[in-house]
Amino acid sequence: MKIIFATGNKGKLREAQEILGSGYELATPADFGIFEDIEETGETLKENSLIKAQYLWDRTHLPCFADDTGLEVDALDGAPGVHTARYAALVAESEGRSTEGKDHNFSANMDTLLEKIAEKGPCAARTARFHSVVTLIVDGEPHYFDGVLEGSIAHEKAGCGGFGYDPVFVACEYPDRTVAEIPEETKNAISHRGKALRAMAAYLKENE
Ligand code: IMP
Repeated sequence: MKIIFATGNKGKLREAQEILGSGYELATPADFGIFEDIEETGETLKENSLIKAQYLWDRTHLPCFADDTGLEVDALDGAPGVHTARYAALVAESEGRSTEGKDHNFSANMDTLLEKIAEKGPCAARTARFHSVVTLIVDGEPHYFDGVLEGSIAHEKAGCGGFGYDPVFVACEYPDRTVAEIPEETKNAISHRGKALRAMAAYLKENE
């Protein structure tokens, strides 16, 4: 079965292909001549993943899925949440500061996160979670799958593996290092996205 994954990220594609197994052939939007950046205008992770999957379904009418992830920090009442990818730029904009170089900038995002938690004082709740929602569309019908990775936000960045907020995120399973300090396969085995993709894979296999 051929399925399109709404991503251009090779790491995500490899992870999804490993989870789905050889019975499923993953394709990307580029394989179908779709190169546009799909605008994520939803107010929730679920809405954004549906927007991306629906866009692909409307153009191809082939089975397809999309994911959306947010980091929810308790001290920040669940922020950055749906704004995780653009956090530094959005905070700078809301505070009337320059956004130059801050858009989709992992390092600036982590700096902003650490600053915002520090502003809450030394007793701020650093507990946090990555939350992924995957929307799969088959025969025009959307199906949703969730995955969560619980952990906390470190006081400073450490490690150079992974991507995004990995250098400041400590997973409950590996409390003595950040996710950027654990091997990729170890991270994939516990990750939010891995859990949502495994739930989707189980659904596909049950409903073949
Ligand atoms: P996306 O929906 O997968 O594009 O994720 C949105 C944003 O969440 C990304 O730009 C990253 O900053 C962050 N993110 C998603 N997954 C991870 C992860 O596994 N580790 C660290 N950051 C992540």
